[in-house]
Amino acid sequence: MSFDCSGHIKDFLHELPKCEHHLHLEGTLQPSLLFKLAERNNITLPDLLPKTVEECDERYNNFANLQDFLDHYYIGMSVLIHEEDFYDLAMAYFEKAHSDQCLHSEVFFDPQGHVERGIDIDNVVGGFNRACQDATTKFGTTNKLIMCLLRHLPASEGLKTIEMTHKYYEQGVIHGLGLDSTEVPNIPSIFTECYQDLKQKFPHIGLTSHAGEEGDFTYIEEALDHLKVTRIDHGVNAVQKDELMEHLAKEEILLTVCPMSNLKLRVVDDIGKLPLRKFLDKKVPFSINSDDPAYFGGYILDNYLAVQKHFGLSVDDWKFIALSSIKHSWCDDVRKQELTDLVHSVISKYDGLL
Ligand code: HPA
Ligand code: ZN
Repeated sequence: MSFDCSGHIKDFLHELPKCEHHLHLEGTLQPSLLFKLAERNNITLPDLLPKTVEECDERYNNFANLQDFLDHYYIGMSVLIHEEDFYDLAMAYFEKAHSDQCLHSEVFFDPQGHVERGIDIDNVVGGFNRACQDATTKFGTTNKLIMCLLRHLPASEGLKTIEMTHKYYEQGVIHGLGLDSTEVPNIPSIFTECYQDLKQKFPHIGLTSHAGEEGDFTYIEEALDHLKVTRIDHGVNAVQKDELMEHLAKEEILLTVCPMSNLKLRVVDDIGKLPLRKFLDKKVPFSINSDDPAYFGGYILDNYLAVQKHFGLSVDDWKFIALSSIKHSWCDDVRKQELTDLVHSVISKYDGLL
């Protein structure tokens, strides 16, 4: 099934104010920038990585699963060395997000993937934070950093990373904690102490975790019960259990869904098979996100358009998605009101045209 995605509906989806909650800054490293930074920093890339931009595009279009992608993602990271490398990477993303009318971004980064290579944490957070601030000045967009722990590493390493980044939480430079990398068999409860420790010290921060991407619904339940997260990254396997769907709707737990990622990592073989219609019918709040756009072939607007193409959503459906994305963002109420007003004005503008 394919729905029209041109003309007014395309313009509407472009203009609709967006919030992105599931975007790994390291996953925005386009092959062209990867090769440029490798040269600039004298990095020899391993044989697993194709040698040209075109060959990378081809390889990235054929990942076997999450781990196959992650193997390439960690190689990509190895070209990021200096503060300006991190700055350039994030700034390129913020510029693209702005052109997609993404007005608020909450972005992940993986400090362990850098510190374990001997990179100074100040280069990582300093570069990303400077880009966040410059993007606000230049584009008027708002942005927040969320640190992720790598779940293929032990929780003791996570605790060290938390300790190392205390000062950034204290300064309000990092706003949240997430959990990413190889989902199965690394169940969320392994990281309970990490989440408890940070939340106790900084009660205002947001907690989230990847769950229910390759892992089944029990990973989502674990993240909610043990990590006390208020948001789930991916979460598409929530559809496996009715009571969980009801719980997500009742407690308004936001799922940060990534349609093109799910297709490219073979979570589904067709975007139309994602349970988005069920989420809408059951009032489970979700946002639409790009995850790792340089690896999965599309940024946030591409993901919105892909959803429209496969589901032919109504204006009311889009209103629910846009307003849920704002309501469950971690920005302040003044910003939420500004974004909400903008959504209403775009919907009015297209009244009768869609
Ligand atoms: N899942 C798990 N870990 C990740 C992802 C993802 O989609 N992207 C970057 N790290
Ligand atoms: Zn992700």
